[in-house]
Amino acid sequence: MPGILEYMAKHTISLEIFHKIAKMTNDIAGIYMHESKINMLSNRLRKRLIALNIETFEEYYHYLVNGNDPDEINQMLNVISTNETHFFRSKAHFEALEKKIIPELLSKRDTPVKILSAGCSSGEEPYSIAILLAENNWLSPKLVDLEAVDLNSMIIDHAKKGIYHSKQLRYTDERIVIKYFNLIDHDSYQIKNFIKNSIKFYNMNLLADKFNNNYDIIFCRNVMIYFNRENHINLVNRFYEHMNQDGFLIIGHAESLFFIKNMFQNKVLCQTHVYQKT
Ligand SMILES: C[S@@+](CC[C@H](N)C(=O)[O-])C[C@H]1O[C@@H](n2cnc3c(N)ncnc32)[C@H](O)[C@@H]1O
Repeated sequence: MPGILEYMAKHTISLEIFHKIAKMTNDIAGIYMHESKINMLSNRLRKRLIALNIETFEEYYHYLVNGNDPDEINQMLNVISTNETHFFRSKAHFEALEKKIIPELLSKRDTPVKILSAGCSSGEEPYSIAILLAENNWLSPKLVDLEAVDLNSMIIDHAKKGIYHSKQLRYTDERIVIKYFNLIDHDSYQIKNFIKNSIKFYNMNLLADKFNNNYDIIFCRNVMIYFNRENHINLVNRFYEHMNQDGFLIIGHAESLFFIKNMFQNKVLCQTHVYQKT
C-alpha cells in the first residue's frame, strides 16, 4: 500500500498544470480561476482522473489536449463549474418581476414575453420564474416563452428531471411546495409536469454558442461573478445584441455593470437593481 504522502504527491496538481487548465477553462467557458483555487481545482478534477484511471494531473492535461476524447473537455467543465442555487434566490428580483417588469412588458408587447435563464444550473431559477408566472395566470405560451441554458450538461439533465432535495426549497412557502411539487420520498420533491413542460432547457456555452434572438428578460445571476472582466464585457455585449429594446437584464447582487456604461439603464424596482436596455 502506498503511504498517504506518496499518494498525495502523485495526485497534487503542479502550478504549471494548474495554469494550463485554468487558461483552458477561461478561454472556453469564461470560468476564471486565481491561483488560490488550486486545491479546489485538484479536488474537483480528481473525479475525472479516477473515472479515466489516470494517475497524475500532468497525464490528464495531455489526455485533454491530445484531442482523442473531445467529450472530456465537457466532462472537465461539468466537474469544474460551481452550480450553487436554490428556489426563489434573491426574492427581491422575483418581486420586481411580478410587480413591475412582467406587467410593464405584457402591456407593451403583442407577442409572448421571451424570458431566458442564462446559467440556470439545476433549474431552480427558471422553475421559480415559471411558478411566479403560474401564480399570476401568466403561464401560457400566448403570454410568455421560457428558455433556460447552462454549460454543464449533467446539471441540465438534472434540471430536466426537476427532482430536488427539500434543502433546495428552504426559502419556498409551504403553500407553493404543496401546489407545484409532488413528494416522491420523505425529503425529495419533483416539480409538476405542467411547470416542467413550460420551459425549454438547452446545454449551451453562453460565450461561444449561437444565441436565440429577441429576449425581453434575461436572468443571468451568479454566473459572471466567475468571469474576468473581458469575458464579463463580452457576455453583456452578447445579451445586448440578442435583447429587445426596453428588455431587462437581471444580474446577481454581487455582480455589477458599472464598467459598461450607456448600454443599460440601472433602475431600482422593489428595492433591487435591474438593468433596462436603452
Ligand atoms: C452559481 S450557478 C448560478 C445559478 C443561478 N443562476 C442562480 O443564481 O442561482 C452558475 C451557473 O453558471 C453556469 N455557467 C458558467 N459558465 C457558463 C457559460 N460560459 N455558459 C453557460 N453557463 C455557464 C454554471 O455551469 C453554473 O450552473
